[in-house]
Amino acid sequence: MNSGRGNIQIKFEFSEEDFTQVSEYAARMYGLNIPESKRDLIYARISRQMRSVGASSFDSYFTEIQKKESSFESRKFLSLLTTNVTSFFREPHHFDSLKRVLRDRLEKPSRKDRFTIWSAGCSSGQEAFSIASVVHEVNSKFADSSVKVLATDVDDEVLKRARLGTYNDVEVADLNEVSRRSLFESYSPNASEYQILPNLLNLVEFKNLNLVKPWGLADKFDVIFCRNVVIYFDRETQQVLWKRFFDQMNAEGTLFLGQSERISGGCSSHFESVGFTEYRKIV
Ligand SMILES: C[S@@+](CC[C@H](N)C(=O)[O-])C[C@H]1O[C@@H](n2cnc3c(N)ncnc32)[C@H](O)[C@@H]1O
Repeated sequence: MNSGRGNIQIKFEFSEEDFTQVSEYAARMYGLNIPESKRDLIYARISRQMRSVGASSFDSYFTEIQKKESSFESRKFLSLLTTNVTSFFREPHHFDSLKRVLRDRLEKPSRKDRFTIWSAGCSSGQEAFSIASVVHEVNSKFADSSVKVLATDVDDEVLKRARLGTYNDVEVADLNEVSRRSLFESYSPNASEYQILPNLLNLVEFKNLNLVKPWGLADKFDVIFCRNVVIYFDRETQQVLWKRFFDQMNAEGTLFLGQSERISGGCSSHFESVGFTEYRKIV
């Protein structure tokens, strides 16, 4: 690849066939369904990245991308394909349910095993830290040792941000003061940067995990948040995922989905609906 200097205005040829190649690659590697309506958006993102690395044509750039999934440029490319929109306490009713589920568990002192929560498709960490804040609120001692929060995403760029736990004023703008204090250290109303409290940061383990590849997870989970992720997958991939989530959950575990996502098909009988986009594993 050449130096990108001076190429700022270059427009790359990006044919129908090129778009098909990208969408097939996205589906094969990451389960992502990229509709034709996103073609211009994808072109804009890819061409910006091609200019920044000085690529001469889409063909040569995409050949490099496909050589090695784990290469720096392939990871960057994946980032161009994903949608990472998220926020703290998004779909807040799920966090009320989480509080209830956690309290129920605390009332059963006979259960000595760790309570395990998985934020699958965690983006830049807002969902995982909202979970951690609820855990802490329910019982701060509980948070120290007997709860594990795993947060995973396939996109290294967002995971890098999540691990830092630093957010800007726009990202916290919709939070009320109580929520801000529950999440951030040295809260000041007019700050431009907010740092997640160390006890919440320590509670969450962030990890790269591709939901459509083998997971290699030793734990089974009491609660799985997989919200606004499967909406980007095709139906077949969703069906496979429901079964895999079922297998990865403890008895009576809870699965939270995003507001436009539903369990359907053969796996419906494995889960009962216990709230809005909230499911319990049937044993
Ligand atoms: C729209 S965000 C949702 C974030 C959060 N769950 C929420 O509801 O606010 C979707 C996330 O799913 C991730 N994702 C997409 N495909 C994935 C895959 N195959 N495996 C794991 N994560 C994936 C994306 O990188 C992105 O960060």
